[in-house]
Amino acid sequence: MRPLPDDGGPGDGAASDSSESSHGGGTTSGPRETKSLISRRRLLAGGALLGASIPIVHELIPHAGVHRALEGSAVAADAGLEGSGHESGHSASGFAAGFREGEVDHRANGFNPTDILRDFDGGRTRRLASGRVLREWDVVAQDKEIEIAPGVKFAAWTYNGRVPGPTFRATEGERLRINFMNGSEHPHTIHFHGIHPDTMDGVPGIGEEIGGGLIEPGEQFTYEFDAEPFGCHLYHCHALPLAAHIAKGLYGGFIIDPKQGRPKADEMVMVMNGFDTNFDGSNEVYAVNTVGFHHVNEPIQVKRDELIRIYLINILERDLVNSFHVHANFFQHYPTGTSLEPSEFTDTIVQGQGERAILEMRFPFPGRYMFHAHVTEFAELGWMGFFEVSE
Ligand code: CU
Ligand code: CU
Repeated sequence: MRPLPDDGGPGDGAASDSSESSHGGGTTSGPRETKSLISRRRLLAGGALLGASIPIVHELIPHAGVHRALEGSAVAADAGLEGSGHESGHSASGFAAGFREGEVDHRANGFNPTDILRDFDGGRTRRLASGRVLREWDVVAQDKEIEIAPGVKFAAWTYNGRVPGPTFRATEGERLRINFMNGSEHPHTIHFHGIHPDTMDGVPGIGEEIGGGLIEPGEQFTYEFDAEPFGCHLYHCHALPLAAHIAKGLYGGFIIDPKQGRPKADEMVMVMNGFDTNFDGSNEVYAVNTVGFHHVNEPIQVKRDELIRIYLINILERDLVNSFHVHANFFQHYPTGTSLEPSEFTDTIVQGQGERAILEMRFPFPGRYMFHAHVTEFAELGWMGFFEVSE
């Protein structure tokens, strides 16, 4: 198998070779992870696209699916892709194509990932007697079924009816007040990353004496703390079992701008997430901002040479790491956004759960540029998209 001419170096090619030889023979007797992959495929591809005996080695061949997607929406409706240039079965291409057919009903969802991308919620502000700014938001936890890929429904738990929840945005030094109302059938909290007293931390058992801690259905609580430190943060429910509460959709971005601000840019938030739709303990759909393949179907429109600033947050549950890779370009990486100096100029970063960063870049050429998780499996299951650069 020839290494694919993408961003993968010699290491990628070697990995695909060894994977292929070790798994190429069997479709049913593979390791445990192989079995779980089959079930993920069945769920979304409905079996038809998978084929009864197609080897699943494509799963282990870096970039195969990505290259299919690069060939793009033009082939999306063509399920008969097998055997057109790659040696192995390539149900992945047919799978990805089938996955992208049809449209998610954004109206029924009540949110559209294209809007979420640039939707920063500054709340309401007023000046306190001390001269400080008080910034305030109302947040309601609601249970809600959402569509995370065409025809794939997920019984989500949401903040303000959307997944991810609102991207709260403040400036360092302000006083923040979040009025939380639990309208869900389940107890929840809001745990903010940042610096604050324990009673404001949104953890069960702590702050119960002032009505905090675990917030039962129908109850309310107001979190109040200072905006610090500046950076790209996040919030999420901290009720137990934690994995379930996060994986259901209770999380969002929390951005604190430095007092002096940052240079003007086309800013966007990308919350990397995933969904375990069949409760088997692994994710069937991966995305940024919830809907798999959304930005394959609706590329992110940007301007040539304009500064782009991405607030990237990894909240993915059930997988140890996630990653972000952009094609044909490099970005400045500001881990956690807590420094005004970038730490690295690169095209790929890896994040563990809860990690986040600010990425800055400009596209010098017009055209379509892919971005995706540099974990092929995630990309094939939805975590990929395009920037469309125009003059
Ligand atoms: Cu919860
Ligand atoms: Cu956290």
